[in-house]
Amino acid sequence: MLIPSELHLAVSGAGDRKLTTDRNFRVAIVNSKGGSGKTTLATNLASYYSSQQLKTALIDYDSQGSSSFWVSRRPEDCSEIQLIPAYKQAINVTRGWFLRPERLTQRVVIDSPSGLDVAQFKQALNECDAILIPVLPSSIDIHAVAHFIADILLLAKIRREEGRIAVIANRARKNTLVYQRLEQFLKSLDIPFIATLRDTQQYVKASEAGKGIFEMPRVDAKDVESWQPLLSWLKQREGNKFEQPQFFLNN
Ligand SMILES: Nc1ncnc2c1ncn2[C@@H]1O[C@H](COP(=O)(O)OP(=O)(O)OP(=O)(O)O)[C@@H](O)[C@H]1O
Ligand SMILES: [Mg+2]
Repeated sequence: MLIPSELHLAVSGAGDRKLTTDRNFRVAIVNSKGGSGKTTLATNLASYYSSQQLKTALIDYDSQGSSSFWVSRRPEDCSEIQLIPAYKQAINVTRGWFLRPERLTQRVVIDSPSGLDVAQFKQALNECDAILIPVLPSSIDIHAVAHFIADILLLAKIRREEGRIAVIANRARKNTLVYQRLEQFLKSLDIPFIATLRDTQQYVKASEAGKGIFEMPRVDAKDVESWQPLLSWLKQREGNKFEQPQFFLNN
């Protein structure tokens, strides 16, 4: 018997129309610029979802294996996260099978590498319900992300109006000029600017412990609060996805 997350039927003779009941919610964290906070965002989001009793998979596309390393450090008493090391070769199974989350997975978080080739990653991006772009407050990062966003729109053909892309300021020090420049820039994009995460050692400590900041003792309330707009934005996207009828036809 097919369970909902396995059912994905193409309706023959109906052009592009699909009959689907895929119940995963997929979030990709991307930015071609190295060190912008992709892995930090991916691991914290995965740990948040799994600590909410949602069955969560973390797909690591980066050959540095940082998310994989984080999962390997995760303490046994923390909620389980399925790791899919997508950067490795599939052995004895098809690539599709290798990348497949376990049955009944509810949330899938994708960590991507720096220098991402948007054209090659187009399909993975198009399968995502949300695409988050963390950006650092620096002139070089602002310059690079402007090009990267153009690539996402043009090469991956993701339209702003779909409401799937959002940007996040990471490692912010609010009173600095360069942060103010970043804020101005992010607000000028026609893309939701949904959160500002502080530059704090909390993220470094959590990462070392294989945890997210939500799971850390004595975490600063400000840092937990800074995630709320991001989590609310994702929740709204989840609502858009899951409130659709279970069986629907796309034209
Ligand atoms: N908000 C933050 N506050 C303090 N340190 C942070 C913050 N975000 C990320 N870092 C640190 O910055 C470094 C780079 O972050 P991270 O590895 O998440 O970036 P990345 O985009 O995944 O990098 P890469 O492109 O190499 O994969 C890490 O050491 C991480 O702990
Ligand atoms: Mg990384």
